Amino acid sequence: MTLATVGSDLRPSTRVVPVKGYDARGIVWFTNYESRKGQELAGNPFAALQFHWVELERVVRIEGRVEKVSAEESDAYFASRPLDSRIGAWASPQSQVIPSRTVLVTNAAKYGAQFMLNPPRPPHWGGYRLVPDQWQFWQGRKSRLHDRLRYTQAGGGWLRERLAP
Ligand SMILES: Cc1cc2nc3c(=O)[nH]c(=O)nc-3n(C[C@H](O)[C@H](O)[C@H](O)COP(=O)(O)O)c2cc1C
Repeated sequence: MTLATVGSDLRPSTRVVPVKGYDARGIVWFTNYESRKGQELAGNPFAALQFHWVELERVVRIEGRVEKVSAEESDAYFASRPLDSRIGAWASPQSQVIPSRTVLVTNAAKYGAQFMLNPPRPPHWGGYRLVPDQWQFWQGRKSRLHDRLRYTQAGGGWLRERLAP
């Protein structure tokens, strides 16, 4: 999915992150809390997600507030990752400028030697959950008369509205 956040300079930014969980509470992904997205979410917890299925002519857009998942959830997911991914979470200072790939390779070797087969979850790495307050479903139809249905949280339920395409 594409994740959009907004920095303190009010400039939006997007990146792709995989969905790693979803339930009635929201949609979860995992990342580096010190990355650009992490810093932007620390300053402004509102974000937007987008999915596009070209063949189905469908788009889902989701907006809401983002919170960190519990340490237990982050630990459980981290433990399920392959070893090189767990080392990679230590080795990559995500979103920072680095002089060359050598930094990554050197870091991976260093943390690999330090943690061997059991790297702990880095304190700067974990999950976020977007708690949706708005969903929008777009379905392509003939003659550009597409369907757009928007669900907005209102009180205890959801307000359903049709938008012009
Ligand atoms: C298929 C795919 C999977 C990715 N998985 C993740 C992920 O699980 N977590 C993550 O932080 N970045 C992931 N990335 C990298 C992000 O798109 C992005 O480059 C990175 O998170 C840094 O973004 P930022 O500088 O805006 O914070 C993935 C990218 C692609 C294309």
